[in-house]
Amino acid sequence: MQFCRLLFFALLLKVANSDATDYINNMTSRFTHEIENWVKLRQEETEEFKQLIHTLALPTALQRDDWHSFEGQENKFICIICKSVIKTFLSFRRKGMSEEDIRSRVIKLCTLLNLQTEEVCDGAVTINLPIILYIVDSRPDLDSSTICGVVLESKSCPLNNNEFDWTVDIDDSPPILIDSEKTNETLNIVQITDIHYDPKYEPYGNSFCDEPTCCRIGQNKTNTSGKVAGYWGDYNYCDSPWHTVVDALDYIKAQHENISYVYFTGDIIDHGVWETSREGNVESLNKSYYQIYETFGNIPVYPILGNHEPHPLNQFAPNTITDDELSTQWLYEMMADLWINFKWLPESTRTTILQGGFYTVSPKKGFRIIALNNNVCYSYNWWLWYQPQDPYGQLQWLADTLSQAEKDQEFVHILAHIPPGSSDCQTTWRREYIKIVNRYAHIIRAQFNGHTHNDELQLYFSTNDNSEVNNVAWNGGSLTTYQNLNSNYKLYIVDNNNYAVIDYENWMYNLTLANENANQRPLWYKSYSFKEEYGISDLSYDSLRVWLSRLTNDESLLDLYYRNFFKLAEPSLRNECSALCMEPYACRVIANLENQEAKCNNN
Ligand SMILES: *[C@@H]1O[C@H](CO)[C@@H](O)[C@H](O)[C@H]1NC(C)=O
Ligand SMILES: *[C@@H]1O[C@H](CO)[C@@H](O)[C@H](O)[C@H]1NC(C)=O
Ligand SMILES: *[C@@H]1O[C@H](CO)[C@@H](O)[C@H](O)[C@H]1NC(C)=O
Ligand SMILES: *[C@@H]1O[C@H](CO)[C@@H](O)[C@H](O)[C@H]1NC(C)=O
Ligand SMILES: *[C@@H]1O[C@H](CO)[C@@H](O)[C@H](O)[C@H]1NC(C)=O
Ligand SMILES: *[C@@H]1O[C@H](CO)[C@@H](O)[C@H](O)[C@H]1NC(C)=O
Ligand SMILES: *[C@@H]1O[C@H](CO)[C@@H](O)[C@H](O)[C@H]1NC(C)=O
Repeated sequence: MQFCRLLFFALLLKVANSDATDYINNMTSRFTHEIENWVKLRQEETEEFKQLIHTLALPTALQRDDWHSFEGQENKFICIICKSVIKTFLSFRRKGMSEEDIRSRVIKLCTLLNLQTEEVCDGAVTINLPIILYIVDSRPDLDSSTICGVVLESKSCPLNNNEFDWTVDIDDSPPILIDSEKTNETLNIVQITDIHYDPKYEPYGNSFCDEPTCCRIGQNKTNTSGKVAGYWGDYNYCDSPWHTVVDALDYIKAQHENISYVYFTGDIIDHGVWETSREGNVESLNKSYYQIYETFGNIPVYPILGNHEPHPLNQFAPNTITDDELSTQWLYEMMADLWINFKWLPESTRTTILQGGFYTVSPKKGFRIIALNNNVCYSYNWWLWYQPQDPYGQLQWLADTLSQAEKDQEFVHILAHIPPGSSDCQTTWRREYIKIVNRYAHIIRAQFNGHTHNDELQLYFSTNDNSEVNNVAWNGGSLTTYQNLNSNYKLYIVDNNNYAVIDYENWMYNLTLANENANQRPLWYKSYSFKEEYGISDLSYDSLRVWLSRLTNDESLLDLYYRNFFKLAEPSLRNECSALCMEPYACRVIANLENQEAKCNNN
């Protein structure tokens, strides 16, 4: 939950900025002690407590800062603080503290520390607590180092729990190569991702509110300071109005006569994460999928789930959880029904969709799509604390499905919402995924991801030869402009015989301009084709490897990539970014090299 992370961030800012270790240790132990007393005694705050809270309270301006990438020493302190807070609450729960008492204490603490407004704290804690307490109660051995280790996993906050040390059985026989002649025939594959449709979007509402998501009905009561939500969307923390979603889909269909397939890589639900409900999600999912279906008609759409689809977000329960309040079954049933009724998918996919939201399908001979629900690996899926081992057996299924595809001489595209090479994905899952990709790299012709909202890509390096690229994962960007981005989608030109991506086009529009002309449809345009933009002759793995090394050495090329990363959105590009500041964007391109990551200061 954001709550925990924000708490750590608050402490980080206030505490870890000072490099006096003694001071930090002193603060940590005082805090632990005071929190314990405060939770236990349920009395008014002591002076010491008030003083600590005052010191630690998060400045409002920082409530939205990205607290994802703590590094080294700082992360270590955050980790210590995490463990002490979680340990306190765990021990009270184990001694019988009621859900209601924990709920009210955590909400109060969240509010006192100014992590969010009281309403947001209340909502976020209330919808997540039943799952967390179910897990805590049914796993008496679960401890704070496991919890913090999953959420903050890194070298300085290691996860030492051998339940997480599982592996997948991967066929170790040598790869069977498939003949892969090129043809002149191509397929046009459109990737649409991260719509984040907000049913509460209010044009000319408040785009600068106190909550995590703005531009929503009900927020204009407060002073808008002149920050008024645009008609077509807004660069602030706002999602997509319905008419913007409809416009994008209509534009894509009308512009590209020859779409072979649509890949939809997840996230329909808005960022109003503290006030989602199952009913609300069902409505948005149904409405959006119907719109996609009605727009594209007979064109096959291959969809996957995003981490925002469940309620509360990120939570994908194991199949053994049958309590309807906690289970994710409603989502899997709904998706299986929609996707199969629309004739996008055959009946044969139902079993695995119901098992965990993943499936495979062969749209034509020699070609297979594997669609994953890799949101299970997200470090905010609390269910990882409950059952860490290959959730739903999905990775084993992936390895087996690829093994069969190899025998059947099929080329494969893999769709997954979260870029599996990123550190958002729990380490064991990521490690096993990379092993599988490495073994079947010769038939996996491309991977397609979303989630980050940025226009980017990741290159996978061969485990056997670190200097060789053996796979590429393209990221589709996002339809939502959340946050400080333009809306975009991608059109991939794919070889019809070997299914390699020959080139792609990025399509977008300038939101400032669109809002200036609110009564006209946004002016979509092709912002670039990859080959032309970066001056490369083809998208072979060799060319992409050379491109990456140019990116790390050629400042103007990196600048171009950086601008595209933010989809040319003015607010993102307003700040000067030096070569040093742009370096991490090149580093993100590398999916799986330990030494390169170290060189890039990623850890
Ligand atoms: C922390 O520092 C305060 C004042 O600097 C001191 O009074 C207190 O004893 C210290 N506490 C611990 C646990 O070290
Ligand atoms: C493919 O296109 C090139 C140039 O457009 C042409 O020279 C070649 O003959 C074509 N090959 C086939 C198999 O159609
Ligand atoms: C919200 O407030 C702003 C500034 O006061 C105003 O311009 C705008 O029309 C209001 N929007 C709505 C939907 O009332
Ligand atoms: C709204 O807020 C801005 C900045 O916070 C302030 O300058 C302005 O006076 C406020 N307007 C009203 C009507 O309160
Ligand atoms: C559409 O694609 C098909 C098959 O790839 C091709 O034969 C046809 O010429 C294309 N039509 C247009 C208008 O591009
Ligand atoms: C889903 O949307 C369709 C088309 O708008 C509508 O007919 C149907 O009743 C909706 N189903 C649910 C469960 O909302
Ligand atoms: C977007 O439109 C605005 C307003 O017309 C303009 O000032 C800006 O330069 C445009 N941005 C880009 C990247 O074209």
